[in-house]
Amino acid sequence: MSVLPVEIDLPPVHLPHHVEILLQQTAEAMEDWQGNRENHTFVPADYVLVFDALCALRPRMTVPKPYFLEWGSGVGIVTLLAASLGWSASGIELQPGLVRESRSIARMFDIPATFINGSFFPQDKEAVDNLEEICRKVNLLYVYPWPDQELEIFDLFDRMAKPGTFLLTYYGTEDVRVFRKD
Ligand SMILES: C[S@@+](CC[C@H](N)C(=O)[O-])C[C@H]1O[C@@H](n2cnc3c(N)ncnc32)[C@H](O)[C@@H]1O
Repeated sequence: MSVLPVEIDLPPVHLPHHVEILLQQTAEAMEDWQGNRENHTFVPADYVLVFDALCALRPRMTVPKPYFLEWGSGVGIVTLLAASLGWSASGIELQPGLVRESRSIARMFDIPATFINGSFFPQDKEAVDNLEEICRKVNLLYVYPWPDQELEIFDLFDRMAKPGTFLLTYYGTEDVRVFRKD
Protein backbone atom coordinates (compact mmCIF):
# COMPACT_ATOMS: atom_id res chain seq x y z
CA MET A 1 0.00 0.00 0.00
CA SER A 2 1.50 3.32 -1.03
CA VAL A 3 -1.23 5.68 0.14
CA LEU A 4 -0.19 7.93 3.00
CA PRO A 5 -2.28 10.19 5.26
CA VAL A 6 -1.83 13.94 4.82
CA GLU A 7 -2.39 16.48 7.61
CA ILE A 8 -4.43 19.51 6.59
CA ASP A 9 -5.72 22.49 8.52
CA LEU A 10 -9.35 23.19 7.87
CA PRO A 11 -10.09 26.75 8.94
CA PRO A 12 -13.73 27.49 8.00
CA VAL A 13 -13.77 29.47 4.77
CA HIS A 14 -16.14 32.37 4.24
CA LEU A 15 -18.49 30.97 1.61
CA PRO A 16 -18.50 32.98 -1.62
CA HIS A 17 -21.96 34.26 -2.50
CA HIS A 18 -22.31 31.99 -5.56
CA VAL A 19 -21.54 28.94 -3.40
CA GLU A 20 -24.15 29.96 -0.82
CA ILE A 21 -26.74 30.31 -3.56
CA LEU A 22 -25.72 26.98 -5.12
CA LEU A 23 -26.08 25.20 -1.77
CA GLN A 24 -29.38 26.88 -0.89
CA GLN A 25 -31.00 26.17 -4.22
CA THR A 26 -29.79 22.60 -4.53
CA ALA A 27 -30.82 21.68 -0.96
CA GLU A 28 -34.39 21.60 -2.25
CA ALA A 29 -33.50 19.38 -5.21
CA MET A 30 -31.77 16.98 -2.81
CA GLU A 31 -34.78 16.83 -0.46
CA ASP A 32 -37.06 16.09 -3.41
CA TRP A 33 -34.70 13.36 -4.53
CA GLN A 34 -34.47 11.75 -1.11
CA GLY A 35 -38.23 12.09 -0.54
CA ASN A 36 -39.13 10.15 -3.68
CA ARG A 37 -39.39 6.47 -2.81
CA GLU A 38 -38.76 5.37 -6.37
CA ASN A 39 -35.29 6.84 -6.22
CA HIS A 40 -32.34 4.89 -4.88
CA THR A 41 -30.56 6.00 -1.77
CA PHE A 42 -28.42 9.09 -1.85
CA VAL A 43 -26.78 10.63 1.21
CA PRO A 44 -25.31 14.12 0.83
CA ALA A 45 -22.02 15.08 2.46
CA ASP A 46 -21.50 18.21 4.58
CA TYR A 47 -20.78 20.45 1.61
CA VAL A 48 -19.51 23.39 3.67
CA LEU A 49 -16.89 21.17 5.30
CA VAL A 50 -15.92 19.63 1.95
CA PHE A 51 -15.68 23.13 0.44
CA ASP A 52 -13.25 24.08 3.26
CA ALA A 53 -11.16 21.02 2.36
CA LEU A 54 -11.18 21.87 -1.36
CA CYS A 55 -9.99 25.40 -0.54
CA ALA A 56 -7.22 24.00 1.69
CA LEU A 57 -6.07 21.61 -1.05
CA ARG A 58 -6.26 23.99 -4.01
CA PRO A 59 -2.85 25.65 -3.27
CA ARG A 60 -1.22 22.20 -3.12
CA MET A 61 -1.99 21.54 -6.77
CA THR A 62 1.12 21.90 -8.87
CA VAL A 63 -0.53 22.44 -12.27
CA PRO A 64 -2.52 25.53 -13.27
CA LYS A 65 -5.68 23.62 -14.23
CA PRO A 66 -5.71 20.51 -12.03
CA TYR A 67 -8.16 17.68 -12.67
CA PHE A 68 -10.74 16.79 -10.04
CA LEU A 69 -12.75 13.55 -10.13
CA GLU A 70 -15.58 12.45 -7.84
CA TRP A 71 -16.40 8.75 -7.53
CA GLY A 72 -20.14 8.48 -6.84
CA SER A 73 -21.06 12.10 -7.46
CA GLY A 74 -24.70 11.98 -6.30
CA VAL A 75 -26.35 15.26 -7.37
CA GLY A 76 -22.91 16.58 -8.30
CA ILE A 77 -22.45 19.34 -5.74
CA VAL A 78 -18.81 18.63 -4.84
CA THR A 79 -17.81 18.37 -8.50
CA LEU A 80 -19.56 21.69 -9.13
CA LEU A 81 -17.77 23.28 -6.16
CA ALA A 82 -14.41 22.03 -7.48
CA ALA A 83 -15.17 23.41 -10.95
CA SER A 84 -16.06 26.77 -9.42
CA LEU A 85 -12.61 26.78 -7.72
CA GLY A 86 -10.82 26.32 -11.06
CA TRP A 87 -10.44 22.57 -11.30
CA SER A 88 -11.30 20.80 -14.50
CA ALA A 89 -13.98 18.66 -12.83
CA SER A 90 -15.89 15.43 -13.52
CA GLY A 91 -18.14 13.13 -11.53
CA ILE A 92 -18.91 9.46 -12.10
CA GLU A 93 -22.32 8.32 -10.86
CA LEU A 94 -24.12 4.99 -11.17
CA GLN A 95 -27.70 6.27 -10.96
CA PRO A 96 -28.84 7.87 -14.24
CA GLY A 97 -31.43 10.06 -12.46
CA LEU A 98 -28.71 11.64 -10.32
CA VAL A 99 -26.56 12.24 -13.40
CA ARG A 100 -29.50 14.02 -15.08
CA GLU A 101 -30.02 16.13 -11.95
CA SER A 102 -26.29 17.03 -11.80
CA ARG A 103 -26.22 18.07 -15.44
CA SER A 104 -29.30 20.19 -14.96
CA ILE A 105 -27.79 21.97 -11.92
CA ALA A 106 -24.54 22.53 -13.87
CA ARG A 107 -26.57 24.13 -16.71
CA MET A 108 -28.62 26.22 -14.29
CA PHE A 109 -25.48 27.68 -12.71
CA ASP A 110 -23.46 27.69 -15.93
CA ILE A 111 -20.65 25.67 -14.33
CA PRO A 112 -18.46 23.69 -16.76
CA ALA A 113 -18.40 20.27 -15.08
CA THR A 114 -18.85 16.86 -16.71
CA PHE A 115 -20.96 14.00 -15.36
CA ILE A 116 -20.45 10.45 -16.55
CA ASN A 117 -23.03 7.74 -15.98
CA GLY A 118 -21.55 4.40 -14.92
CA SER A 119 -19.53 2.65 -12.26
CA PHE A 120 -16.06 3.55 -11.04
CA PHE A 121 -15.38 -0.12 -10.29
CA PRO A 122 -13.61 -1.56 -13.37
CA GLN A 123 -15.03 -5.05 -12.78
CA ASP A 124 -18.68 -3.87 -12.95
CA LYS A 125 -20.66 -4.38 -16.14
CA GLU A 126 -21.65 -0.69 -15.96
CA ALA A 127 -17.98 0.37 -15.65
CA VAL A 128 -17.21 3.68 -17.32
CA ASP A 129 -15.27 3.40 -20.60
CA ASN A 130 -11.61 4.45 -20.40
CA LEU A 131 -11.80 4.42 -16.61
CA GLU A 132 -8.12 3.79 -16.16
CA GLU A 133 -7.18 6.59 -18.54
CA ILE A 134 -9.53 9.02 -16.74
CA CYS A 135 -8.15 8.07 -13.33
CA ARG A 136 -4.53 8.54 -14.43
CA LYS A 137 -5.29 12.21 -15.22
CA VAL A 138 -6.60 12.97 -11.73
CA ASN A 139 -4.86 15.35 -9.32
CA LEU A 140 -7.56 15.20 -6.63
CA LEU A 141 -10.05 12.39 -6.20
CA TYR A 142 -13.02 12.87 -3.86
CA VAL A 143 -15.26 10.12 -2.56
CA TYR A 144 -17.97 9.69 0.08
CA PRO A 145 -18.24 5.90 0.01
CA TRP A 146 -20.92 3.62 1.29
CA PRO A 147 -19.44 1.91 4.39
CA ASP A 148 -19.10 -1.46 2.62
CA GLN A 149 -17.07 0.15 -0.19
CA GLU A 150 -14.45 1.91 1.93
CA LEU A 151 -11.65 -0.65 1.73
CA GLU A 152 -12.23 -1.52 -1.91
CA ILE A 153 -12.16 2.15 -2.87
CA PHE A 154 -8.90 2.70 -1.02
CA ASP A 155 -7.37 -0.25 -2.82
CA LEU A 156 -8.70 0.97 -6.18
CA PHE A 157 -7.23 4.42 -5.59
CA ASP A 158 -3.88 2.79 -4.82
CA ARG A 159 -4.02 0.86 -8.10
CA MET A 160 -5.40 3.56 -10.41
CA ALA A 161 -3.96 6.89 -9.23
CA LYS A 162 -0.62 8.21 -10.40
CA PRO A 163 1.99 9.12 -7.75
CA GLY A 164 1.29 12.49 -6.11
CA THR A 165 -2.51 12.25 -6.52
CA PHE A 166 -4.53 13.43 -3.52
CA LEU A 167 -7.53 11.52 -2.16
CA LEU A 168 -10.15 13.45 -0.17
CA THR A 169 -12.66 11.27 1.67
CA TYR A 170 -15.79 12.16 3.59
CA TYR A 171 -16.78 9.48 6.07
CA GLY A 172 -19.58 11.23 7.93
CA THR A 173 -20.19 14.15 10.27
CA GLU A 174 -17.01 16.20 10.81
CA ASP A 175 -14.92 13.42 9.31
CA VAL A 176 -12.95 14.40 6.23
CA ARG A 177 -9.54 12.85 5.62
CA VAL A 178 -6.83 13.42 3.06
CA PHE A 179 -4.36 10.90 1.64
CA ARG A 180 -1.73 11.00 -1.05
CA LYS A 181 -0.40 8.36 -3.40
CA ASP A 182 3.32 8.06 -2.71
C1 LIG B 1 -22.95 8.50 0.08
S1 LIG B 1 -23.44 9.03 -1.54
C2 LIG B 1 -22.33 10.41 -1.77
C3 LIG B 1 -22.77 11.38 -2.81
C4 LIG B 1 -21.81 12.55 -3.08
N1 LIG B 1 -20.50 12.08 -3.43
C5 LIG B 1 -21.69 13.47 -1.90
O1 LIG B 1 -20.59 13.62 -1.36
O2 LIG B 1 -22.69 14.08 -1.52
C6 LIG B 1 -22.67 7.75 -2.55
C7 LIG B 1 -22.97 7.91 -4.03
O3 LIG B 1 -22.14 6.99 -4.75
C8 LIG B 1 -22.90 6.41 -5.80
N2 LIG B 1 -22.25 5.11 -6.12
C9 LIG B 1 -22.20 4.01 -5.35
N3 LIG B 1 -21.49 3.03 -5.97
C10 LIG B 1 -21.10 3.53 -7.16
C11 LIG B 1 -20.34 3.01 -8.23
N4 LIG B 1 -19.84 1.76 -8.20
N5 LIG B 1 -20.11 3.79 -9.30
C12 LIG B 1 -20.61 5.07 -9.36
N6 LIG B 1 -21.36 5.62 -8.35
C13 LIG B 1 -21.59 4.87 -7.26
C14 LIG B 1 -24.29 6.29 -5.21
O4 LIG B 1 -25.27 6.15 -6.24
C15 LIG B 1 -24.42 7.61 -4.44
O5 LIG B 1 -24.90 8.64 -5.25
